[in-house]
Amino acid sequence: MRGSRISGMGHYLPERVVTNDDLAKFIDTSNEWIVQRTGIEERRWVEGNVGASDLAFEATKEALEEAGIKASDLDMIIFATLSPDINFPGSSCILQKMLNAPGVATLDIRNQCTGFVYGLSIADQFIKTGMMNNILVVGAEVHSSGLDMSTRGRDVTVLFGDGAGAAVVSASETDSRILDSKLHADGTQYDILMVELPASRLKERITADMLDDARHYPVMDGRNVFRQAVTAMPAVVNEVLEAHGYTPQDIDLLVPHQANLRINQMVARSLKLTQDQVFNNIMRYGNTTAASIPIALHEAIQAGRVKDGDLVVLAAFGAGLTWGANLIRW
Ligand code: ACO
Repeated sequence: MRGSRISGMGHYLPERVVTNDDLAKFIDTSNEWIVQRTGIEERRWVEGNVGASDLAFEATKEALEEAGIKASDLDMIIFATLSPDINFPGSSCILQKMLNAPGVATLDIRNQCTGFVYGLSIADQFIKTGMMNNILVVGAEVHSSGLDMSTRGRDVTVLFGDGAGAAVVSASETDSRILDSKLHADGTQYDILMVELPASRLKERITADMLDDARHYPVMDGRNVFRQAVTAMPAVVNEVLEAHGYTPQDIDLLVPHQANLRINQMVARSLKLTQDQVFNNIMRYGNTTAASIPIALHEAIQAGRVKDGDLVVLAAFGAGLTWGANLIRW
């Protein structure tokens, strides 16, 4: 049976650590407020002109090395990000140039926090059909250059960090380690978490007046997103498990998207999972959106939390709204 497996992983975080106290120097906030509401203690921010593809490049080098292949062996680069280097072309093309792999197919996906989950399922399908053998799925974000660094944006700015995580998905001729994915979206709620500008649906995509109105910064109905995340994530985890006759008790490790530690604690409680069954690292990195799951999965592997044969579930919820889960037999 032809199947797919993750053959190598890598991740990269910028060196600059920004603590909650650092934020409190220019935003009216406090370490206590941020830790109590989100669990976040610090995050990483880039310095100078650094794009999502620069972070992705570092994570990709590590993933390719672990997979034992060269960039030119890839059939496709799938790049998940909400913070592309430039408006177009996509960051997958920029990363392909950095990797010196001309001819390799490129695909950018814009599914925010669920980007890696969607990307993994796309790679899985291209491999299972026999069309491709090695696909890079990378999630990378530079949030720090797009956040409102004033008290006006404090509800969002304190949440986000920069980083990248990458996985090489390869064909297996004997079995499939990626068992399944369940993907969902509700576009009727696209505007409860979004960045509006630059907007092609406006006659002028961006003007000085629009900038004065802060329409180029993220806006979020945080309570609404929180409420829906704690329901949708357990539901999609159950959905992907049930399709294969498993229950939450069969999970060896759940790697949830890292948006808020309180969300992940409520998801774990709802699924009746023990602490040992869930991996969180949001305390150190904040929400790195499309990068959060591959960074957390790779850290979990490096910490010895994932062993051969383990049942691993990846689950995400975020802007779009989008949500989904992957089921993997490691
Ligand atoms: N520091 C101090 N006070 C703050 C801050 C801050 N950083 N931000 C907001 N406040 C204040 C508000 O002004 C408000 O004050 P008021 O009562 O005087 O009006 C008070 O704190 C409470 O604000 P809420 O927004 O109601 O706080 P809440 O408890 O809902 O927590 C949070 C906010 C942490 C953002 C939470 O709603 C959350 O985590 N939501 C989900 C986020 C998420 O999952 N996003 C999806 C992923 S991101 C993606 O897909 C791109």
